[in-house]
Amino acid sequence: MARLKVGVLISGRGSNLQALIAAGADPAYPAEIVTVISNRPEAQGLARAASAGIPRHVIADPDRAAFAAAANRLLREAQVELVALAGFMRILDPGFVEAWSDRMINIHPSLLPAFPGLHPQRQALAAGVKFSGCTVHFVRVAVDTGPIIAQAAVPVEDDDDEDRLATRILAAEHRLYPLAVRLYAEGRLRIDGNRVAIAGAVAPKIEVLNPAEALADLASDAG
Ligand code: GRF
Repeated sequence: MARLKVGVLISGRGSNLQALIAAGADPAYPAEIVTVISNRPEAQGLARAASAGIPRHVIADPDRAAFAAAANRLLREAQVELVALAGFMRILDPGFVEAWSDRMINIHPSLLPAFPGLHPQRQALAAGVKFSGCTVHFVRVAVDTGPIIAQAAVPVEDDDDEDRLATRILAAEHRLYPLAVRLYAEGRLRIDGNRVAIAGAVAPKIEVLNPAEALADLASDAG
């Protein structure tokens, strides 16, 4: 089986990169990371790529167009078919985004379109939402927009601070990103305007309430 060739762009810690590396360690997983590109030489994710024996590159050029040209060259050389942004913290050149349209995805730690941009967990706490989560979406020129492929929801707890909420969301990210890449690799995604249909996918038949005690009340009412 030819596996889908994925290029991952990072800027920092690289825990989502690690989740994708772990998924790809299973030969039955339909995608493999063939190159990792960082815009920061100190990104921890580079060491993760090195440990996994994945070619890695740093493009530190602050010029957006120069970064795009260098990244494009590396991605082409590695015959990349899908670009996955994983904690990549630079705005991309619009021409680069257009060139990879429908072949570039991103993960964001909120239930988009809520809380795009910086500090989404802080935004979620400030808004007082009872659920937040993460989103994998196709990348469009406007930041954190683009057709949504998959989402995971997590509860917000009363005593959450930004770090606690981020940690809970991150655990969901590490499950969601490998799932979304697999769905792409299996050719199951069909983009229709802003919506993405997933062949063979079933939405969970659940309704989750927060606070959960509301569920207990409903159950005892029913009994
Ligand atoms: C993640 O929360 C991701 O959703 C966001 O940036 C963070 C990157 O974390 N885009 P890591 O580098 O993958 O650990």
